[in-house]
Amino acid sequence: MHTLLLAAVILAATVSHSVAETLLERGTYLVNGIVACGNCHTPQTPGGPAPGREFAGTIIADMPEFTAFAPNITPDKATGIGNWSKAELIRAIREGIRPDGSLIGPPMPFSMYRHLSDRDVEAIATYVMQVPAVSNAVPKSEYRIPLPPAYGPPVAEVPEPRPENIIDYGAYLAGPAGHCLECHTPMVAGRFDYDSQTGAGGLKFEGPWGISVASNITPHPDGRVADYSDAELATVIRTGVRPDGSRIFPPMGVHYYASINDRDMAALVAFIRTLKPKPNGG
Ligand code: HEC
Ligand code: HEC
Repeated sequence: MHTLLLAAVILAATVSHSVAETLLERGTYLVNGIVACGNCHTPQTPGGPAPGREFAGTIIADMPEFTAFAPNITPDKATGIGNWSKAELIRAIREGIRPDGSLIGPPMPFSMYRHLSDRDVEAIATYVMQVPAVSNAVPKSEYRIPLPPAYGPPVAEVPEPRPENIIDYGAYLAGPAGHCLECHTPMVAGRFDYDSQTGAGGLKFEGPWGISVASNITPHPDGRVADYSDAELATVIRTGVRPDGSRIFPPMGVHYYASINDRDMAALVAFIRTLKPKPNGG
C-alpha cells in the first residue's frame, strides 16, 4: 500500500476510534475514571478503593443534615440491585428515582447526572451491571432535612457531547460526568452558588483524614491554580500531588482520575482556565 494512503487509513482509524468503542469499554473508562461512582459507593482505604469491594456500599456522610449511606449497587439480588433492569438503573442515576418510585437522597449529584448523555449513562449502567456481586447489607440513610419532591422533570433525551468543541466538552466532563464543579462550588442558603461562585471552593468534608476544604480552582490569587502550568494542573488532578510535593486529601477522587486520557484531560484543563476569578468561597 502506498505510504500516504496507509497514513490516511491509520488517521481514519484513530478518528473513528471513539465511535467504535463499545458501551462496556466506554462505561469502564468513565466509571474507573472521571465519573468515579466508586468514590462514594466503594469503601475507600488510604491507598485507594478497597480490593474486592467495588460498589459494596459504605457510609459517606454523617452531619447535622443527614447520615448518608451509599448503598450496595453490585448485582447481588439480596443486598444490591440485582433485580433492577438497565432502564431502572438509568432512571435512578439521572432522575434519582428508584424502581419503587421513592426518591434517592443527597449527596449523589443528581443535578449533574441529569445532563449525562444517553449513551454515557447507558455505558455507565452497562458497566455497573457486570461488576462481581458482593453480599453486603448497608443501613438506610437518614435525612433530617426535607428532600425535594423530585430533582426535575423526567429526562427525555440528552445528545452526545462533542469532543471537537474543547471548552464545551471540558464543561461536560467537569459538570455532568465528573461533578468537579459540585464539590468545588460553595453553597449559599442550601444551594450551590453556580450563579456567582463557580469553582471558588470552600465546602468542608469530614472523614478519617480529618477535615479537608475544597480548593478554589478559579484563577483568583486566593487559589493556586493560576500558578500551575497546564501540565502541572493535569498532574495535580491525576496524582493528587501538588508541584510543592503536598498531597490532596479525600474526598477528591484522585485514585480514579489517574486514568483520565490525554484528550479528556486537555479539555478539562482548558475548561478550568475559563472559570471567572473568584475569592475563596465558604
Ligand atoms: C457523592 C456521592 C455519590 C456519588 C458520586 C454517586 N452516588 Fe449513588 N448514591 C449515593 C447515596 C448517598 C445514595 C443513597 C441515598 C439515599 O439513601 O437515599 C446513592 C444511591 C444510589 C442508587 C440507589 C440504590 C438503592 O438501592 O437505593 C444507585 C443505583 C446509585 N446510587 C448509583 C450510582 C452510580 C451509578 C453512580 C455513578 C454514576 C453514583 N451512584 C454516584 C451517593 C453517591
Ligand atoms: C468529592 C469532592 C470532590 C470532587 C468530586 C472533586 N474534587 Fe477537587 N478537591 C476536593 C478537595 C476537598 C480538595 C482539597 C483537598 C486538600 O486541600 O487536601 C480538592 C482539590 C483540588 C485541586 C487542587 C488545587 C490546589 O489547591 O492545588 C484541583 C486542581 C482539583 N481539586 C480539581 C478537581 C477536578 C478537575 C475535579 C473533577 C475531575 C475534582 N477536583 C473533583 C474535592 C473534590
